[in-house]
Amino acid sequence: MRYLTVALTKGRLAKDTLRLFSRIGIEAAGTEDNDSRKLIFTDEKNKLRFFMAKGPDVPTYVAYGAADIGIVGRDTILEEGRKIYEVLDLGFGKCRMCICGPESAREALSSGKVIRVATKYPNIARDYFMRRRHQTVEIIKMNGSIELAPIVGLSEVICDIVETGSTLRENGLAVLEEVCPLSARVVVNQVSMKMENERIGELITNLREALQ
Ligand code: PRP
Repeated sequence: MRYLTVALTKGRLAKDTLRLFSRIGIEAAGTEDNDSRKLIFTDEKNKLRFFMAKGPDVPTYVAYGAADIGIVGRDTILEEGRKIYEVLDLGFGKCRMCICGPESAREALSSGKVIRVATKYPNIARDYFMRRRHQTVEIIKMNGSIELAPIVGLSEVICDIVETGSTLRENGLAVLEEVCPLSARVVVNQVSMKMENERIGELITNLREALQ
């Protein structure tokens, strides 16, 4: 039997996912060692292989079939727009994609003027403003600490993830509009889904049951 390969998103998502996998009897040796620089972990009994990757790379590994299965946030799935199947909502990593800014930006946002939107998610932001709001905006791609942008005058608003809302509050910003809810999802390569339908189906069923 060949190994099924699972790409995990490095960090908290990987930790929560491995905890869930261990509840269904899947245990990859070595993942508990935080200091290790090892990249691939194997569960010999279940013939599964796990590796850790940066979030945006997970849909890429899955789309090309280098991983059969991936665990990744819905934000990343939407942003990357790869041809993959999204098969299960894991329910953790819950947060929201929002348009945020100072309260004073509300007016500019609804005025129809061309405003600037700073974001790590240019595709999600473009899609939201073009297709849902029918509004022309200037998207500015940033790489982190997005909340800075409206504070220092780079943009009127941001399109970013809000979890607890404390980053916004501490910086005098607010949610102006909600784009969509987010959480961790299981994604599957389209060919693997056909070729390994039984094993992948069973794995998804077991994960779904463990979530209840
Ligand atoms: C994310 C996001 C917000 C923050 C939201 O940033 O971009 O800044 O978390 O969380 P909160 O609502 O609980 O405050 P992250 O910490 O991933 O780092 P980044 O700024 O480098 O994107």
